[in-house]
Amino acid sequence: MYTAFSTVISLVYYCGVLTVVRAAPAVDPRVLALPSSLNPYPAQPRITFRPDGTFKLTVFSDLHYGENAWDVWGPQQDVNSSKLMKRVLADEKPDFVVLNGDLITGENTFKENSTVYIDEIVSNLNDAQIPFSSTYGNHDNNPNITHMAEFLREKLVSPHLSYTRILPSGGIYGPGNYWVPVYARASDFVPALILWAFDSRAGNTAGQNSTQVPDWVDDSVATWIENETKLMDSVWGPPGDQRAAVAFVHIPPFAIQQVWENLNNTLNPGLDADSLGQGSTQATTKSSSQGNDEPFWNSLNTNVKNLHAVISGHDHGMEWCAREPTKNVIFCFDKHSGYGGYSSPGWDHGVRNILFTSPDPRDGPLSWIRLENGTTRAHVQLDDQYQ
Ligand SMILES: *[C@@H]1O[C@H](CO)[C@@H](O)[C@H](O)[C@H]1NC(C)=O
Ligand SMILES: *[C@@H]1O[C@H](CO)[C@@H](O)[C@H](O)[C@H]1NC(C)=O
Ligand SMILES: *[C@@H]1O[C@H](CO)[C@@H](O)[C@H](O)[C@H]1NC(C)=O
Ligand SMILES: *[C@@H]1O[C@H](CO)[C@@H](O)[C@H](O)[C@H]1NC(C)=O
Ligand SMILES: *[C@@H]1O[C@H](CO)[C@@H](O)[C@H](O)[C@H]1NC(C)=O
Ligand SMILES: *[C@@H]1O[C@H](CO)[C@@H](O)[C@H](O)[C@H]1NC(C)=O
Ligand SMILES: *[C@@H]1O[C@H](CO)[C@@H](O)[C@H](O)[C@H]1NC(C)=O
Repeated sequence: MYTAFSTVISLVYYCGVLTVVRAAPAVDPRVLALPSSLNPYPAQPRITFRPDGTFKLTVFSDLHYGENAWDVWGPQQDVNSSKLMKRVLADEKPDFVVLNGDLITGENTFKENSTVYIDEIVSNLNDAQIPFSSTYGNHDNNPNITHMAEFLREKLVSPHLSYTRILPSGGIYGPGNYWVPVYARASDFVPALILWAFDSRAGNTAGQNSTQVPDWVDDSVATWIENETKLMDSVWGPPGDQRAAVAFVHIPPFAIQQVWENLNNTLNPGLDADSLGQGSTQATTKSSSQGNDEPFWNSLNTNVKNLHAVISGHDHGMEWCAREPTKNVIFCFDKHSGYGGYSSPGWDHGVRNILFTSPDPRDGPLSWIRLENGTTRAHVQLDDQYQ
């Protein structure tokens, strides 16, 4: 839910005299003393659970806007993708949306207007007034576009609803690392849920003589996760039974290849139509980079406690969730949302929904795939029992 957090000021008539009444401070006074990095959105409403204790998140992934502007079918795909977004947002009414990478097919865009496609995507969220944040993907880094350029455009066209932030480090071409706190009540001191977003970079450098960008979350992010979680624990107290997390990163960690090789389609329902190999998971585009996402993957799983799931897109033919046994963490694929990008007959388009049934971090959220037409499938509960 999206609620105003600043002190409520209301105008009341009292004995015929207009008086300004300041409501009792709704905010825990400790909030005002927080280090600014633990109060990252002072000018925006806090993201909160609903009064009934639930919180619904919808993930649009691999939207791939901007293909072949010079052909009829390119812009038509984007019309279709926006139609899908509008229908899903109207039906699902999520409390928060994540755009999980490959918003734009940068290979096809022009230097002079490559980020205007952000306007088209974000207008659907602006119209529905739903707060959101983005991770960026390999197709969002190309000679005519960068993650940073998309971020700046997103903040320009949706300064109030976008919760995306960037890290000064994150490696070149990989600034999209941040977290968004979600509170049980707007007045709380400690968030009940942290949405982490990581930048798996990849794609190509900007400008002439473009070269490949490393296809894994930069090592500096591993240290940053450690620093951030230490600060959170020291100020808010240990996560214990008060704080859970979900992580979003466009390209799946390398460890997911092994999970796929051992997948059981009964226990792990959902489309399983891609073959995971070179380029499908982090640090695999060049064989010499294998293992380079380990600092990130180790730090995430060591430092972020009560992590319900790690969620990626990138592989459009995948929809399943499964437990990664070495880190004992659940991984889920998104659902390919956009009409752009590779697809096959029968894959369809849709979203992954995640429904938190309470702010208690011990309650595993429900998650499922929703197709454009409203059909749902691959229902799972992301709890301790899930395999
Ligand atoms: C747009 O969607 C319609 C209806 O689903 C489909 O028939 C058509 O092929 C799509 N067009 C493109 C270019 O994706
Ligand atoms: C980048 O944009 C320029 C200017 O519009 C265009 O000429 C060029 O083909 C584009 N380059 C790529 C790699 O798409
Ligand atoms: C971007 O520029 C190209 C080339 O000038 C044009 O064909 C295309 O329609 C433009 N795209 C948008 C969304 O304005
Ligand atoms: C790209 O490479 C060409 C040929 O080596 C060189 O002349 C040009 O200066 C380079 N451009 C940039 C922006 O580095
Ligand atoms: C992490 O914290 C250490 C010690 O305060 C600091 O030197 C380092 O720059 C920080 N690194 C990142 C990536 O935040
Ligand atoms: C997959 O899981 C189902 C349900 O637990 C089980 O019956 C089946 O034997 C498993 N298949 C394999 C190949 O392990
Ligand atoms: C929605 O689409 C799916 C996949 O194409 C199909 O199986 C299902 O019957 C459709 N549902 C409705 C309500 O049209």
